[in-house]
Amino acid sequence: MKTLRGVQSMRRVVAGWHDLGARVALVPTMGNLHEGHASLMRLARRRADRVVASIFVNPTQFGPGEDFAAYPRTLAADRHTLRAAGVDALFVPTVRAMYPGGHDGGTLVSVPALSRQLCGVYRPVHFDGVASVVLRLLNIVAPDLAVFGEKDYQQLVLLRRMVSDLHVPVGIVAGPTVREPDGLAMSSRNGYLTAGERRIAPLLLRTLRECRMGLLAGERDFRALERRALRRLKQAGLRPEYVEIREAGTLQAPSARARRLRILAAAWLGRARLIDNIAVNLP
Ligand code: PAJ
Repeated sequence: MKTLRGVQSMRRVVAGWHDLGARVALVPTMGNLHEGHASLMRLARRRADRVVASIFVNPTQFGPGEDFAAYPRTLAADRHTLRAAGVDALFVPTVRAMYPGGHDGGTLVSVPALSRQLCGVYRPVHFDGVASVVLRLLNIVAPDLAVFGEKDYQQLVLLRRMVSDLHVPVGIVAGPTVREPDGLAMSSRNGYLTAGERRIAPLLLRTLRECRMGLLAGERDFRALERRALRRLKQAGLRPEYVEIREAGTLQAPSARARRLRILAAAWLGRARLIDNIAVNLP
């Protein structure tokens, strides 16, 4: 596995592969890799001839007071994970390389239709930061495919929208959420949980599943279902930000005829902000 730090050297490697007719996939990450990330690398491996992973803890997607400084940086272990998953090249740019115009005051990309709801209400700069860094990565690597996890479902829908609105010539591929045996979605931030909190954390998924059971049993008062879920999370000691039932493709409030829904939630547990989501397909 090659490791590249410079924009030009990264471009040259991919241009060489494209000259040989290879299909190239990019899997962007912030590192501290776990099995969820590894599953995306393997998915990329199956869909493309060459796989590039990037590791970049992106300053613009963290708000003031968020965990940018504390975000775990584990490059040696991450390299091992990537090599085992069959990744061909690792891109590890510096902040200056990614933001030559500065990351305060440099060009930002905004997808307001999707960045101001759900997590965006509580993290107002987050999705502009995500869109801004992912567009830079797509412009540098120029992959044929880019792979993202359903774990960050709002991010996935927003990036699909950005790529479509800006005519970026890349296919977006989604990988399913990888979970711990007790259902907790794997996340680099789960390490912030104490042992006691870790035992409570699977309740987030359980609550989403109960909400789905309500929908599948024919309940259509979405607000009442969301309120019930919020109550259940609070009773267990979580501090929920939202539980929302949305249309899966657009994340808009569901119309009466909507069949493909997604239930999304965010809740604090101790120092960790947990997010999760599940699909609901109504008959
Ligand atoms: P990060 O949190 O490192 O996640 C990188 C990718 O892994 C994202 O596409 C995310 O959805 C996916 N992922 C995380 N946990 C997962 C799990 N349990 N199962 C499946 N996939 C999972 O998301 C980001 O980084 C950043 O916002 C980024 C897109 C890299 C832009 O900076």
